[in-house]
Amino acid sequence: MTASVKTGAISIRGVGKRYSEDAPWAMRGFDLEAAPGELVAIVGASGCGKSTVLRMVSGFEGPTEGEISLDGAPIKAPGPDRGFVFQDYGLFPWLTVAENVEFGPKQAGLGRAARRERVQEYLELVGLTRVRASYPHQLSGGMQQRVAIARVLANKPTVMLMDEPFGALDALTREQMQADLADIRRRVGTTVLFVTHSIEEAVQLADRVVIMTGGMSHGVPGHIRRIVDIELGEERDPTSTAFTDLERAISEEVHAKL
Ligand SMILES: Nc1ncnc2c1ncn2[C@@H]1O[C@H](COP(=O)(O)OP(=O)(O)OP(=O)(O)O)[C@@H](O)[C@H]1O
Ligand SMILES: [Mg+2]
Repeated sequence: MTASVKTGAISIRGVGKRYSEDAPWAMRGFDLEAAPGELVAIVGASGCGKSTVLRMVSGFEGPTEGEISLDGAPIKAPGPDRGFVFQDYGLFPWLTVAENVEFGPKQAGLGRAARRERVQEYLELVGLTRVRASYPHQLSGGMQQRVAIARVLANKPTVMLMDEPFGALDALTREQMQADLADIRRRVGTTVLFVTHSIEEAVQLADRVVIMTGGMSHGVPGHIRRIVDIELGEERDPTSTAFTDLERAISEEVHAKL
């Protein structure tokens, strides 16, 4: 594992999405360049198109206009280079923790010994080696989400897409997961696009925060209002003035009228 990964550059240019020809634009005019290893958080009111952006980067949806590329290659379909982590974990309930993590590498044709090593490596990364033989329903929500993260990372993706990944967790577990994600990211160097409803979480984790606004219910396509740099360094204290100032500034933009 190395933190010097230089792949995972995401380029989103002039992207708009309309879910059908007679539907209004869900979102439009989206431009974002994410550097390898960067964590970009996306915040904004419900319906502004945050999940739509992630799905297009994943390749599950195509943009109606504009272009999305990863390391210079246009994104045309889903691929193991882009892992998706959902709020509801999305684990296979009939597979053990280890088998869930092994799933992707097995699909990719990795041999048995290499798979075992890979599973061990990523279970260690998320601190779950002890429950490798358990089934998802036997684990807490936080542990299930760790399995989901390990399962994605076991494919060695260059990009991790996270859609409100900690939204279903209690406050304490959520804080722990945020700290762990920051640590994991430093170790694997994966680029992360992270959608959250929590502005505090965005300021805690991100290098930059994309503030989206609008959406079909506003009669205006969802779009970027502003992109804010979070220059707080690695150790972030949510009670510091610098932190709360950023939180307040972003909150004002999120709640401002169109
Ligand atoms: N598969 C779909 N078919 C048709 N319309 C869709 C589809 N998915 C999303 N939309 C519409 O696109 C718009 C943006 O939806 P999206 O899910 O991206 O918003 P969001 O910002 O993620 O919202 P939330 O915060 O509630 O998750 C919404 O108006 C939604 O109804
Ligand atoms: Mg969403």
